[in-house]
Amino acid sequence: MPPKPTLSVAIVGVGLVGSELISQLLAIQAPNPFRLVSLTSSRYTLFAADGLGVNAGSWASALSASSATPNLPVLAEQLAKLEAAVLVDNTSSQDVAELYPEFLKRGVHVVTPNKKAFSANQQLYDAILRASRETGARWLNESTVGAGLPVVQTLKDLVATGDKVKKIEGVFSGTMSYIFNNFSTANPGGPAFSSVVRVAREKGYTEPHPADDLNGADVARKLAILARSIPSLQNALPEGYTSVQTRSLVPQALGSVSSGAEFVDRLPEFDVEFEKLREEARAEGSVLRFVGVVDVENGIVKADLEKYPTTHPFATSLGGSDNIVMFHTERYSPRPLIVQGAGAGAAVTAMGVMSDLLKLVL
Ligand SMILES: NC(=O)c1ccc[n+]([C@@H]2O[C@H](COP(=O)([O-])OP(=O)(O)OC[C@H]3O[C@@H](n4cnc5c(N)ncnc54)[C@H](OP(=O)(O)O)[C@@H]3O)[C@@H](O)[C@H]2O)c1
Ligand SMILES: *[C@@H]1O[C@H](CO)[C@@H](O)[C@H](O)[C@H]1NC(C)=O
Ligand SMILES: *[C@@H]1O[C@H](CO)[C@@H](O)[C@H](O)[C@H]1NC(C)=O
Ligand SMILES: *[C@@H]1O[C@H](CO)[C@@H](O)[C@H](O)[C@H]1NC(C)=O
Repeated sequence: MPPKPTLSVAIVGVGLVGSELISQLLAIQAPNPFRLVSLTSSRYTLFAADGLGVNAGSWASALSASSATPNLPVLAEQLAKLEAAVLVDNTSSQDVAELYPEFLKRGVHVVTPNKKAFSANQQLYDAILRASRETGARWLNESTVGAGLPVVQTLKDLVATGDKVKKIEGVFSGTMSYIFNNFSTANPGGPAFSSVVRVAREKGYTEPHPADDLNGADVARKLAILARSIPSLQNALPEGYTSVQTRSLVPQALGSVSSGAEFVDRLPEFDVEFEKLREEARAEGSVLRFVGVVDVENGIVKADLEKYPTTHPFATSLGGSDNIVMFHTERYSPRPLIVQGAGAGAAVTAMGVMSDLLKLVL
């Protein structure tokens, strides 16, 4: 087999994950199958067809010294001229996500931890599929669910080898995991819901506005991505993540509070309600977990607060902000295949992105 050409890599978004990815990319021993040709933040951009020639210590200052303004349609044209190129979208931007078809149409692969495109409406998803089919450019999304954990690839392998997926069930949000691992345990008593949320926010485990975690949308997006990776559900969510049955934990009365700090200050008004749910669960020998479920057999995709017996893995084996995913399939029955571990953090997310990049060159 002829050797594969060097893969030109363009990274959009150079925050925590982006920075970690650059380190991992530049640290690969020669012969490095990748060449870093472009970096883009919201304000600056760099492009050099034959490689930027930066190192781990110099890329940030080179980028902020650039005089060019970011322009992704122009980047798509620049990458299209290269022999093999990939766009890495490390933003959480909807605008960037909507441009994936433009890159794929030009033969540029897309790798991303950004959930926005794959969990949006059917039109965008279909446009991505179509563009990819036209040119053979691939789009890879491993790090959109469970960060670096092998969740999407495991599902793909189960489907591709002819196993029948009956149900996927898991704790998909690191933030929700942390909150409920702390709030609801096998022991009586425990901290108030609002104080757990406050501590989580102070530690940087929540979004600046905790409602962005508590509304369940992040879990719904991950479920949309998993559901669409199962053939029988590929067209089941016409509006993407908004078609997922989602229970929001944002109290209705706080729905319009736009400041994260004010939200946390007012949350104690609702501690009694959460306490009641916790006690109900405890009376049944259960704990509360905010989970996502893709019930393939019954065609149900939902994000909800559920009760699990204190002996269940969701109650016994989670710590910190771990994710856990159970695949119930025809082969993995009656005991499911389980994937568990850190579901957030720059190092593990960048690893998920890196593993997708390696799929393109190996
Ligand atoms: N952190 C994790 O553990 C984790 C796990 C799994 C998946 N993810 C996903 O990884 C992605 C990044 O996460 P995040 O929360 O860190 O995102 P974020 O803070 O919003 O990062 C935004 C970064 O992207 C750049 N950016 C934003 N919009 C842009 C645009 N239109 N054009 C060019 N650059 C743009 C920003 O540039 P400036 O630097 O100039 O502002 C910034 O560096 C998200 O999609 C997230 O869901 C993260
Ligand atoms: C990339 O991902 C990390 C982790 O999600 C995030 O903190 C960072 O801001 C993202 N964006 C860029 C531009 O790297
Ligand atoms: C995720 O990527 C895989 C290819 O690795 C693809 O088969 C699957 O359909 C994708 N799912 C979504 C929702 O993008
Ligand atoms: C509960 O919160 C504490 C303090 O933030 C943290 O150290 C601990 O890991 C959490 N407990 C669980 C079970 O996640």
